Parts: sequence; C-alpha cells; structure tokens
Amino acid sequence: MTINAGLEGIVVAETDLSLVDGTNGYLVYRGNWAKDLAISRTYEDVVHLLWRGHLPSEQESEAFRAELAARRKLPDYLKTIIAALPPETDTMSVLRTATSAIGNRGYAWPPTFEQASDILAKAPTIIAYRHALNTGRDPIEPDESLGHAANYLYMLHGEKPTRVHTRALDAYIILTAEHGLNASTFTGRVITSTRSDIASAITGAIGALKGPLHGGAPSEVDTMLEEIGTKENAEPWLRGQIEGGERLMGFGHRVYKTMDPRAVALRLVSDSFAGEDPWFDLSVHVEETAVRLLKEYKPGRNLYPNVEFWAAAVLRGVRIPTDLYTPTFGLARMAGWSAHILEQADKNRLIRPESTYVGEMPKAS
Ligand code: SDX
Repeated sequence: MTINAGLEGIVVAETDLSLVDGTNGYLVYRGNWAKDLAISRTYEDVVHLLWRGHLPSEQESEAFRAELAARRKLPDYLKTIIAALPPETDTMSVLRTATSAIGNRGYAWPPTFEQASDILAKAPTIIAYRHALNTGRDPIEPDESLGHAANYLYMLHGEKPTRVHTRALDAYIILTAEHGLNASTFTGRVITSTRSDIASAITGAIGALKGPLHGGAPSEVDTMLEEIGTKENAEPWLRGQIEGGERLMGFGHRVYKTMDPRAVALRLVSDSFAGEDPWFDLSVHVEETAVRLLKEYKPGRNLYPNVEFWAAAVLRGVRIPTDLYTPTFGLARMAGWSAHILEQADKNRLIRPESTYVGEMPKAS
C-alpha cells in the first residue's frame, strides 16, 4: 500500500470555484482569468463572483461593498480579547483567536453568506486594531466610504491611500483570494465536513496558513533579500542555502511546475513601485539567479518563483509592515476559504481518510 503523505495528485472534490493549472500556469476564478480580474475589478467584486457565482452588476457591487463596509467595526468584546493577548503574540495568532471569538455567538448550521461576510469584513480591522496597539498608536476606526483594500491601508497608516497603492493592494488580495485545495482551504473543508460552524473552519484555516511552507513565506522573502544585501552576494548566498538543504522562500510550488501566474502578475504590479523600492533591482536579480541555480541543483524539479516572491515587493510597495504580510494574505484568502466552506456544506460528506497501522498487535485477549 503506497502512503501518499502529501496527498499529491489526490482529487477529493469537484469545484467550479477555481482552476489551478500547474502545467500551463493558469489560475481561473469561475470562468475568469484571475490576472484579468486583478487589473479590472475590486476585491469585493471578486468575493461576490466566488460566493454568488457571477460578477456583480453596478447595483449589486455597490450594495455588496456597502454590506461588507457596515460589518467592519469590531464589537467591544472583540477589542477586549485582542487587547488582552500578551504583547509577544504574533498577529496571525491574534487573527485566529479573534476570528474564533466571532463565531462564539453560536453560528447555526449551515454556514451563510452573512456569516462569511461578517468574518471577512472584520479581518482587516482585527489586524489593524492589533497593529495600532502593538505600535502604541490610537486605533483608527474603519471608514465605510472606502473600499476593502483602501480602508485597510487607511486603518494601518492613518491616511487615505493613493490610487496606485489601492490598486496594487486590490490586485494582490484578488490574486491571493482563492487557490483551490491548498492546505488552509482543505483544512476549512475538513472542519466543515463535520457540520461544524464557519468560524471554526476559518479559524483552522488561519492556523494552517500561518506555517512558513504555506502562507508564512512572504516575510521570509524580505529576510532573504536583507541577508543577501547586494547583487554580488546573491549567487554565493543562494548556493549556500541550496547546498545546505534549505528551501528558498518564495520558490517552488506543489502544483505549479512553471511560473506561478500570480508571481507574473504581481511582478508587473511591483513595476509601479520600482523607483521607490530599494530592493526592486535586487529582487529581479535574485529571481533570475535562483531560477538558474535551482535548475542546476534540482534538475527536473521545475522550481520557479511562487506568489510569495513578488508579493513581498508589492506589500513593501504599499508599506505593509513585514510582520503583517501573512495576516494580509489571510484577510485576502477569507474569500476562497468561505467559498469552499459554503460549497462543502452543500455536499456535506464527512472527510475521513484512512491510515495503515504499523504498530504491534496485542496478544489475543
Ligand atoms: C503557497 O498550495 C497552494 O496553492 C499554496 C499557495 C496558495 O495560494 O495557497 O500557492 C501559497 O503556499 C506558496 C508556497 C509558499 N512557500 C514557500 O515559498 C516556501 C518554499 N517552498 C518550498 O517549501 C516548497 O516548494 C513547497 C512547500 C511550496 C512545495 O514543496 P513540495 O511540493 O512538497 O516539494 P518537495 O518538498 O517534494 O520538493 C521537491 C524537491 C526537493 O528536492 P530533493 O529533496 O528531491 O532533492 O524540490 C526541492 C526539494 O528540496 N525544493 C526546493 C524548494 N522547493 C522544493 N529546493 C529549494 N528551494 C525551494 N523553495
């Protein structure tokens, strides 16, 4: 019996939410190229597409944006919980804890669009509220007149963002909104398959995304660039990492065996900050060098930049603090997690694989 520990290539569901084509490097959201949505629509429109099955009309778009905006404010009990967590608590743990508390108001089964909207709308406020406390600033209340991306930047920086920054962050959170059965989304589906509530399922998904092999990589890309420091140091540093058996953060992917289409799209978005980003030229050089060295050391493994490599450049560009890179990935993925949870609830088949027992058997009793 072959054990497939990573579930590589195991198909467990049919979905019309997204296609992640690792051979051709395609990412499709319900019949739309994700890269086209990233330049032409807002995050709220893409959430509507994923949840309701169609891109919203102008009226639907305005109504949904307003509905999410009205749910952004944190009730006092959530502010108390967020403030009570010890100062050393990382923001992904704060997001996980606060999200689990949202559901404690007894979310009934089955999960609903309203429950999903409540959690998705509050995620940016939870992150920004904790960041303000961590940095000794007065938290800024959400502004209902701003879109999802712009309001997040406003709560973080205390000033309304530029159109360039809003567009760039919208593109990032659209491109990371949904990605098939990645580890965190599959976690959410497993929890939903037991008929547990959506807040529990998203809490579990946040826990999975936190890991550096999954969502924890973008801040590690910044650390890598900082350690490399100069173009001259790129090759020796990267060689040392690979020879030492280390993984290069922002490279490789379980599904994409060609360029991650999100990395391609975000590389174009980061061009809009090329002048402001001290690490832009270094990022271009590190990308080229790493691809060449990974081909040399790991021939046939098809290791290319994944979403995280250029996500770091875009998040740097819109001045998201490095410790908030993964939480920002988390607020984006709330869309895909919820869409899969709603889809799983419809199918409602308990997910329960098997294992092979290799331990000793007791003597016959
Ligand atoms: C995300 O699933 C998703 O869709 C995830 C995601 C999403 O949107 O939800 O796309 C988001 O998780 C992006 C990935 C972010 N993580 C990183 O950038 C961390 C670095 N990447 C690696 O850890 C790795 O590429 C994984 C975990 C992403 C995928 O690893 P796999 O498919 O399990 O590959 P593997 O461990 O079987 O490795 C195969 C070979 C090995 O070499 P050998 O031991 O056979 O000689 O490739 C090597 C690995 O050592 N390898 C790498 C590498 N990734 C794989 N070598 C150096 N650097 C790397 N980054």
